[in-house]
Amino acid sequence: MYACVCRAVTERQIHLAILAGANSVKDLRHELGVIDECGHCASCVKKCLREAHHSPSPKLSSANILSSVAA
Ligand code: FES
Repeated sequence: MYACVCRAVTERQIHLAILAGANSVKDLRHELGVIDECGHCASCVKKCLREAHHSPSPKLSSANILSSVAA
């Protein structure tokens, strides 16, 4: 499902960008173009960052996301 309809960016793409090193809204905006148009995706982008930063086991989360991408 799209997190950012304007740029056709999915939550999965956002999570992958975070795993690849994006650490802020600014990083995600620069890498994926989210929040650049209408801005309605801002809350979803921030939620993804919060989830990543508060994940008790980032390696496990990474594995889950990567395995879901491969599926
Ligand atoms: S939904 Fe992301 S900029 Fe419009």
